[in-house]
Amino acid sequence: MKSVWSDEVSFEKKESLEQDIKVDTVVIGAGIAGILTGYLLQEQGIEVIIIEGNQIASGVTKNTTAKITSQHDLIYHKLIDQIGVDQATWYAFANQKAIETYKEIISKENIDCEFEEKSSYIYSRENQEIIEQEVEAASRVGILADFVAGLQLPFDTKAAIRFNGQAQFNPLKFLLPLSKKLTIYENTLAVHVEKNTVYTSKAKIVAKHIIVATHYPFINIPGYYFMRMHQERSYVIALECGEGDPEKLVFDSMREEWNLDGMYLDADKDGYSFRTYKNLLLLGGSGHRTGENHIGGCYERLREKAREWYPNARERYHWSAQDCMTLDSIPYIGLYSSSTPNMYVATGFKKWGMTSSMVSAMIIRDRICGNENDYMEVFSPQRFHLSASATNLMKDGAKSVAGLTKGMLKIPKEKLEELPSGHGGIVEYEGEKYGVYKDEEGECFFVSAKCAHLGCQLEWNPDELTWDCPCHGSRYDIRGKVISNPAINDIGIE
Ligand SMILES: Cc1cc2nc3c(=O)[nH]c(=O)nc-3n(C[C@H](O)[C@H](O)[C@H](O)COP(=O)(O)OP(=O)(O)OC[C@H]3O[C@@H](n4cnc5c(N)ncnc54)[C@H](O)[C@@H]3O)c2cc1C
Ligand code: FES
Repeated sequence: MKSVWSDEVSFEKKESLEQDIKVDTVVIGAGIAGILTGYLLQEQGIEVIIIEGNQIASGVTKNTTAKITSQHDLIYHKLIDQIGVDQATWYAFANQKAIETYKEIISKENIDCEFEEKSSYIYSRENQEIIEQEVEAASRVGILADFVAGLQLPFDTKAAIRFNGQAQFNPLKFLLPLSKKLTIYENTLAVHVEKNTVYTSKAKIVAKHIIVATHYPFINIPGYYFMRMHQERSYVIALECGEGDPEKLVFDSMREEWNLDGMYLDADKDGYSFRTYKNLLLLGGSGHRTGENHIGGCYERLREKAREWYPNARERYHWSAQDCMTLDSIPYIGLYSSSTPNMYVATGFKKWGMTSSMVSAMIIRDRICGNENDYMEVFSPQRFHLSASATNLMKDGAKSVAGLTKGMLKIPKEKLEELPSGHGGIVEYEGEKYGVYKDEEGECFFVSAKCAHLGCQLEWNPDELTWDCPCHGSRYDIRGKVISNPAINDIGIE
């Protein structure tokens, strides 16, 4: 189903690139990271084009929840511990600057995108201590944060931390006017990069600078991002209040609006997030590592909570998306690798891509323009914080690589005829393993069970009816067409 953003906004179709060209800078990927980077570079007078494999903002950006905040989970206590207070302060500074830059662009370009300043809260239902620690950490990195007890949520909380002056918006309404100012080629998939040349299936682009803003980087070596990132998926439902409504504290029936003064997120990974948009409440949660949703029921769990907390509300939209998680919770922004001096990357936003995309755009602009930038070092993809990364590299790398070598294990016993309608699974057929989905009418759709990225075995996702890769998060539809990278090839079979 479409997100509320996609339902409200459509982008003009753009042509694909059919001929070889030479430009100063090419950005690969027209999500929020690619568009912001293109926009900030063009503002500096740099000639830039963006190539997009599908359509503008057709990736994760269309399915975000679009909170613009420097409050990225309870990160500051952790960052001070991992990288020290100075670097943690630059992280905070960059993200606060990103919020200010949104305001400047919206005002300069006069963009109507439902931008609203709001406070951002992280609450805990059980643990006051972690909140107190974070309030202290936030003040050490220069963010004025408050300790709050008692929230407008439909359950009790122990404590919360509040950041003031944060914001929320409709991301596609924001990107629409910016995309009109830029040269963007749609349906132009980059398949290969060599030195200063980007190859698509139809053309080649020679550029002084190449920026990979494809969400998950699609070039495996150099960079080795597949060794140091995985993806996590989460789910959103948008609720509208029913007739004659509720006496629930959170719905203001006088104003016919959800009466929440902020954006809320549980400190616990299994908790829920809340924000409003017009007359809707966006309730998020049910997250899992991509490729590890064997039992399904992610939307159903959100719906159960909605019935419990807002019995008169009805569902207007539901959608889901996934984002890239790095080893030390800091995005990778900067040089793609130490051996590629003209190529840059922006990835690993760990579900905080609104500010992280802006930080990427600012850093890459400054690198290309030779501007001073004090916060680029903390995001450098070439960093390696031993204490933060080593254990996760073992854990995450092991998981990502295990799938590459384990071969076709875990094959369910059921043969094709035993697969119930509406279900997917791996079946053995003439000595080969295939993914098969049987629709409600009994028609079967086969795919290769091997991911086109680096060959891991795919897993069926019953909530989205997709084939998901547990290694780095590529996803395919029932016909095997790739819908989430890093894979760029389909796995469908005739
Ligand atoms: C459920 C959910 C909720 C979230 N909520 C928030 C939030 O409240 N606040 C926040 O800050 N962040 C949030 N995020 C994170 C944020 O949405 C993402 O980090 C951000 O949208 C990523 O933008 P992007 O431009 O990097 O990626 P994308 O939007 O995926 O853009 C990448 C583009 O590159 C294109 N592409 C890929 N490969 C190629 C290729 N080879 N050639 C050409 N084009 C290519 C794709 O088609 C795509 O359009 C959320 C994420 C999730 C999953
Ligand atoms: S996404 Fe890397 S092997 Fe599947």
